[in-house]
Amino acid sequence: MRILILNGSPHTNGATAFMTEAFAKGAAEAGHEVVSINVAHMNIRGCMACEYCREKEKGVCCQKDDMLRVYPEILSADMIVFASPIYYFTLSAQLQAAIHRTYSIDIPKNVRKTALIMSSGSPFVYGPAIAQYYQSIVEYWGVENAGIFTSNDKQNMSEKKRDELYRFGKNLR
Ligand SMILES: Cc1cc2nc3c(=O)[nH]c(=O)nc-3n(C[C@H](O)[C@H](O)[C@H](O)COP(=O)(O)O)c2cc1C
Repeated sequence: MRILILNGSPHTNGATAFMTEAFAKGAAEAGHEVVSINVAHMNIRGCMACEYCREKEKGVCCQKDDMLRVYPEILSADMIVFASPIYYFTLSAQLQAAIHRTYSIDIPKNVRKTALIMSSGSPFVYGPAIAQYYQSIVEYWGVENAGIFTSNDKQNMSEKKRDELYRFGKNLR
């Protein structure tokens, strides 16, 4: 599979990156092609709701920012892994912006599976992010949820989490 990781954490060496790297290592060893993009370090603006992509030029966003580099990766992916720190009980604004901007391409036709990886300071803070992931991605796109992984407080950057995410990648079919 061609797997795209969209990481919404501004921390290059943070807890979210720690988990995505372990996952990517396992997935690559299992023979998958893995591409990782940190959307938090890109210039991706929010959707303007101008409807250009629906009414003027179908599938094309009128905003010419770094999302232009992300669209081809989304469209060629078989699986997308959404990864984010929890900010105010939900996904980071940076990852939210990238998700909202898929409005122009609507449902990516090749994507069969998705997964969600989240890091937080506290436990029991994942409800809103999981609800959004299920309703806006899994159900709306009609894809299989391959897994939801969380890590908080002392679990962050732990060998246990590294191993959990590595095994998830390694066992992906
Ligand atoms: C703006 C902001 C909001 C946050 N909101 C929450 C929150 O609602 N609940 C929580 O448990 N942690 C919250 N955190 C803590 C982060 O989720 C936590 O530090 C996470 O491990 C960071 O991951 P990273 O190293 O990949 O960036 C917040 C952090 C920031 C900077």
